Amino acid sequence: MGIKYPLILINFKAYREASGRRGLELAKVAEKVSKETGVTIGVAPQLTDLAFVAAQVDIPVFSQHVDDVPPGSYTGHVTLEAVKDAGAVGTMINHSERRVRADQVDVVVKRARELGLVTVVCTNTPEVTAAMAALGPDIVAIEPPELIGTGIPVSKAKPEVVTASVDLVRRINPNVKVLCGAGITTGDDVAAALRLGTVGVLLASGVVKAKDWEKAIRDLIEPIIKRA
Ligand code: G3P
Repeated sequence: MGIKYPLILINFKAYREASGRRGLELAKVAEKVSKETGVTIGVAPQLTDLAFVAAQVDIPVFSQHVDDVPPGSYTGHVTLEAVKDAGAVGTMINHSERRVRADQVDVVVKRARELGLVTVVCTNTPEVTAAMAALGPDIVAIEPPELIGTGIPVSKAKPEVVTASVDLVRRINPNVKVLCGAGITTGDDVAAALRLGTVGVLLASGVVKAKDWEKAIRDLIEPIIKRA
């Protein structure tokens, strides 16, 4: 599936607020807003909900994680093939809450490409972003871990981390798209992220923990609608 940018990618993490039926409800809200506005909103539900959610919404659904093993005798592992069978368009990998080794990212990126799955590789610094971009994923997402879940947006608090990442990726592999994340909660934060050269944001708590999911998502995408 080709992703249309800008992309707002909502990671449900392991939050109870977005687990099971509530996870489907949140994905449905994202779908509704996306359909009404034309803005691409992707979701990364909990792995146990992946197939359940993907079967019922028509927006890009991502796995939060995948293992670097092929189908077979690997108890408790998640394969790219299973993620694809579940209806996901792609997978995140190397989130700071689920780090893996660089060689494992390499395997996943290569195998995902063969399977037609989109890869979103998370990174923590511009240097790691550069290293991951060299592996040729579709997207890298730069997220300074210290800002995750704080409500302090990376795009305003650490713009230099985002611009350094964007510059390095352009030099190493200009086909790789850059998202930024950590502390993103408002449309202003998204506008700042786009100004810094990203194609969107990866976020979690700003939406998942909001009292009104639809209001939170509509606020986030406002600058994208204004730009169009
Ligand atoms: O994957 C998104 C992420 O780690 C950022 O989390 O809660 O700061 O939006 P949050």
